[in-house]
This record gives sequence, C-alpha cells and structure tokens, in this order.
Amino acid sequence: MAQIIGGVATTHVPSIGNAIAEQKQNDPYWKPFFRGFDYVHYWLAREKPDVAVVFSNDHGLNFFLDKMPTFAVGAASEYRNQDEGWSIPVSRSIAGDPALSWHIINNLVADEFDITTCQEMLVDHAVTIPMTLMWPGEKWTIPIVPISINTVQHPLPSLKRCLNLGRSVGRAISSYPQDLRVMIVGTGGLSHQLDGKRAGFINKDFDQLCMDKLAGEPDFLTRYSIHDWVEESGAQGVEFLNWMAMRGALTGQVREVHRNYHIPISNTAAATVVLENRDEAGRKAA
Ligand code: DHB
Ligand code: FE
Repeated sequence: MAQIIGGVATTHVPSIGNAIAEQKQNDPYWKPFFRGFDYVHYWLAREKPDVAVVFSNDHGLNFFLDKMPTFAVGAASEYRNQDEGWSIPVSRSIAGDPALSWHIINNLVADEFDITTCQEMLVDHAVTIPMTLMWPGEKWTIPIVPISINTVQHPLPSLKRCLNLGRSVGRAISSYPQDLRVMIVGTGGLSHQLDGKRAGFINKDFDQLCMDKLAGEPDFLTRYSIHDWVEESGAQGVEFLNWMAMRGALTGQVREVHRNYHIPISNTAAATVVLENRDEAGRKAA
C-alpha cells in the first residue's frame, strides 16, 4: 500500500529562480533562506519519496481570470513550464503519474469534491521553484501529481474546505494499492501582498501562529474567514490554503521536524517547514 511519509511547505517567490540562476545562494541576502533547505535535502535523501503530490496555486500561466477552477487536479504524464515574464529560466518538464492522479480524482469525486480534471496542465513558478529548491540543479527523479487551488480570484475556498480537500487526498493515497512512498508539498505564503495600498505587508506574529498550529492543531486555523486571512496575512498570504491542503493530506500522527522563517524574500515572508507523518503501520512498526 502507498504510505504518506510527510510534507514540505515552502514559499515560491519567483526571484528565488533568479538567485539560483546567478548562483547567489551564499550572498548575505539569500543565505538565511537557502540554508533552510539543507535539512530538506537531508530529509529527502533519508526518506526517498517515490512521488510528490503538490498543492499550489496557478498565477495565470495555466488558468486565467476568465476560467478559474476552485480545485484542479493534473492527470498528465508530463507537466511543462513556460516563460511567465519573471525573467527566470524555463524549468525542465516534470513527469506525472497518471494512475495515481486518476485514483485521487476518483476518490475526490466520490467524496463530493467537484474538481476539474486536467489531462494537459502547465506548471508555473509555484511548482518549479519549490521543485528546484528541493532538488537543486533540477535533479528531481520523481513524478508529481499537481493539485491547483484557486487563491487568486474571489470567491476562494475556505481554510476548512482546503483542509478537508487534503484529508480526502490523504485517504485516497492511503488506499492506493501500489507500494509507494508519497510526499506532500504545499507551496506559497507566508504573509505577503504584492499590490495595492498594503503592498509589502508582512505579519510575523500571524505567520508564527500559523506555523505553530499547522502540525498539531490545523483545525484552529479554520476559524479565520478568507476576509480575515487577507486582513492578517495580505492579499497573497491566502496562498496558505495550499499549506492547509498539504497538512490535511497527512492523515497520521504529524510532527514538525524543521522550520525556517526569514523576512523578507522579495515582498514575502519566506518560510520552509517539514512535517513528518507517521501512519498506523509506521506507528505499529516503531
Ligand atoms: C512574489 C511572491 C509570490 O507568491 C508570487 O507568486 C510572486 C511574487 C514576491 O514576493 O515577489
Ligand atoms: Fe505566489
């Protein structure tokens, strides 16, 4: 049976791609952020995932404001990146796992989630930047199942809805008959606002609260409405919905094993968190 080994959540700021292209990882501005990935590299080398389910939000490369699915699940054998205008190198393609995608899709629909299925899907910086951070040099060898959550055009799904979406994905993975070690990724956040009067807004106290509650008490965070979240975390801070879905997919006993928080990277409070998931079988074996 497939096993959910844990989750990685990380910021996806495009300028990270410029820093990588210009090899600025050790510059004083960038070092505190990139050092936060040393543990992630160690964890990935130790845990050896076979596939990653990636929750992120599309920023207009794949869906635009005229057609915006609340939840969209990729079911392709390959996901290509394209130039979004950030002047970062176009990433190499990422392989898919259509069989796992369809299993997740069937389970989500059976669980009454009205999703959009995408047999073709482009992936933007919200997928490629985290992939390149986790596997420097674009050296990933594992396929992904990308799941896109609308954090862009209102009305957005609630925190509770995204936590429940993740839980449904987690149940689907746990019932997948193939012996796969599955990692879950949530990208974006933490607090940031890219435009309007509050451009540059960051809220360290609220970010801290979110990270403190994520592993052990994610339901606490569902008390916030989307309106509250924009107020507390900025208009783009709602990308935390991807983190909530990631957390929901960890259906076992969850503990935080790594956290890095650094302000700012570009306009964003940059955070990287690793959560370990010990499922029923893992608990018994320990
Ligand atoms: C920035 C952050 C984002 O989440 C994004 O999608 C684009 C830009 C930024 O801080 O520059
Ligand atoms: Fe973003």
